Amino acid sequence: MTDLVYLNGEYLPLADAKVSVLDRGFLFGDGVYEVIPAYAGKLFRLEDHIQRLNNSLSGIRLSLPHSVADWQAIFAPMLDSSKDQYIYLQVTRGYAAKRDHGFPEQVVPTVFAMCSEIKPFAGRITGIKCITLDDIRWQMCNVKAITLLGNILLRQEALDQDCAEALLVKDGLVVEGAASNVFAVIDGVLLTPPKSHQILPGITRDVILELALAHQVPCQEAAISLDSIKTASEIWVTSSTREIVPVIELDGAAVGSGKPGPVWQQLDQLLQAYKQSLS
Ligand code: PDD
Repeated sequence: MTDLVYLNGEYLPLADAKVSVLDRGFLFGDGVYEVIPAYAGKLFRLEDHIQRLNNSLSGIRLSLPHSVADWQAIFAPMLDSSKDQYIYLQVTRGYAAKRDHGFPEQVVPTVFAMCSEIKPFAGRITGIKCITLDDIRWQMCNVKAITLLGNILLRQEALDQDCAEALLVKDGLVVEGAASNVFAVIDGVLLTPPKSHQILPGITRDVILELALAHQVPCQEAAISLDSIKTASEIWVTSSTREIVPVIELDGAAVGSGKPGPVWQQLDQLLQAYKQSLS
């Protein structure tokens, strides 16, 4: 089942799923996407992911009136209850007869979804190294746009320096990772930057804040300066596919004890228990 992908109303083997080279997703990166985890066949926080998709769609002035139930029905045939997987969903402004920056008069979005296994990320247990880099991205980072050139160049710069992720700095503040949100424990308080057009409103981020609040972990949505993150006892990056990943080295210096810290351990356990409780 899982080798089938969804394209514009049909389920096809991946090799048979084709779109035109005139698709605006290919020509302009004119589209948005979602990454939705599914544990043991159950989609995690589907409503929240679809709400974010709808925000992204309205952010790029593209309308696609699918309900949560419609999306659930589209994804269901690709899910396998014996695995942890994620749905990759991409919606573009579709095919246009000629390449023109302005929107076509008749827009028929291209809707593509595929399902892949979530492979455990070793860095979640061991911790990872990160570097800080200037955030070179655009001003609508709250939109989950398929146009990811900034993000991929930044991630690659980190990989080239033997680091797993880049923490992005804008006007002296650490905003998020190249493909993750950022948390830091500073003076015993768990901090993460507030939602704004400078970051993607991560679903994992929301879950962590809810769990911290429910379990009396002192936490706050607040700006984190580059200077202050250097004093953090713990730093984490979070995302749907890697969950909560401790950062043990930043710009070549150990973070805290240089090992995953106790607040990470607590929130990681709470997240695993929360996932279990849903299946
Ligand atoms: N990316 N910020 C950015 C820039 C991201 O690309 C992601 C996730 C996040 C975390 O969001 P969430 O918790 O909803 O996954 C934050 C996905 C996983 C990707 O592009 O593959």
